[in-house]
Amino acid sequence: TCSLGSYAKEQGILYGAAAKHNTLSSDSEFATIFSQECRVLVPENDLKWEVVRREPGQFNFSKADWMAEFAQSNNLQLRGHTLLWHHYFPQWVEQTLGADNAEDMLIEHVQTVVKRYAGRMHSWDVVNEAVDHESSRQDRLRTSPWLSFIGPEYIDLAFWTAHEADPEAILVYNDNGLWWDAPEGEAKKAAVLQLLETLRSQGTPVHALGIQGHLLGHEMHQMNPEKLRKFLSDVSSLGLEIMITELDVNDHNLPDDVGLRDRLVAEAYYNFLSVVLDEPAVTTVVTWGLSDRDTWYSGWGRKENARPLPLDRDLNRKLAWRAIVESFIST
Ligand code: G3I
Repeated sequence: TCSLGSYAKEQGILYGAAAKHNTLSSDSEFATIFSQECRVLVPENDLKWEVVRREPGQFNFSKADWMAEFAQSNNLQLRGHTLLWHHYFPQWVEQTLGADNAEDMLIEHVQTVVKRYAGRMHSWDVVNEAVDHESSRQDRLRTSPWLSFIGPEYIDLAFWTAHEADPEAILVYNDNGLWWDAPEGEAKKAAVLQLLETLRSQGTPVHALGIQGHLLGHEMHQMNPEKLRKFLSDVSSLGLEIMITELDVNDHNLPDDVGLRDRLVAEAYYNFLSVVLDEPAVTTVVTWGLSDRDTWYSGWGRKENARPLPLDRDLNRKLAWRAIVESFIST
């Protein structure tokens, strides 16, 4: 069958999308199309602290387990997102975390969650968005409870703990803002590269860089293909794989006309992917949702009119779907 997943596979690329338990489990029409288009499933929120650790002192895996089973019964690989982040903690965690227990809580969380899915996880976003190019620190690490209570070595600790709990999973450092080259984007790329270099040189088991890829439809002129290529090749030279982990195109500042907007969104996908897929280290492309029916952008901007994803609200293939296929075919 012709699907995003099958076109990508022909080029040796793994394609999939993020989805929420609430949507997949209640919308069977969507679930069917999802399993046809995708080869990998990323629980958008169901493995995060805000879901798994909702209740004090407990782990709640009911949603994540359901997602893992959905993946297995539909022949999809499973990608884990995310073990450590600087925000979106349940309140009880925020109130509990301190210098005396942060290391124990990190280890307990990473061990418990990673072990549960060991052998079933294609890859894990171990640390998410740890770099802030505006940080006044020399290492440009972002302010977070982990950094304040454990120190910069929390990153190494997280990767080692994950690696011991599941030696087979590909361990990913995941970050945003890496696709563009406004001055900020350049600083971000430099800071992330510096972090990855440090981790690799000290032997930390980090295997891949995840580039989120939340593109801004009205800012695509800020993407400099040459600088992006150079960055990808620098990352690859460190011996790292590269995954595009959260691709979508924010259309909230694009024209109102739907036809024009869809064309610009499609162009953004193509312009980004055709550059990125030239780099042999790029193995995986994940869109942050599959259908406009279920995009995080429906929470703001154009809300129910947002059209950032490959399928529209009726699950019809949009120009963006075609553009992604074209970019797979032309690699
Ligand atoms: O499902 C509950 C619902 O039961 C409840 O009534 C409602 C009230 O707040 O919340 C609903 O959950 C929300 C969930 O999205 C589902 O819509 C959470 O509060 C909300 O925090 C969550 O937002 C997610 C956000 O990360 C924070 O975790 C977005 O869906 C998700 O797309 C977004 O994803 C992030 C990546 O993890 C990291 N990179 C950036 C990306 C986009 O922000």
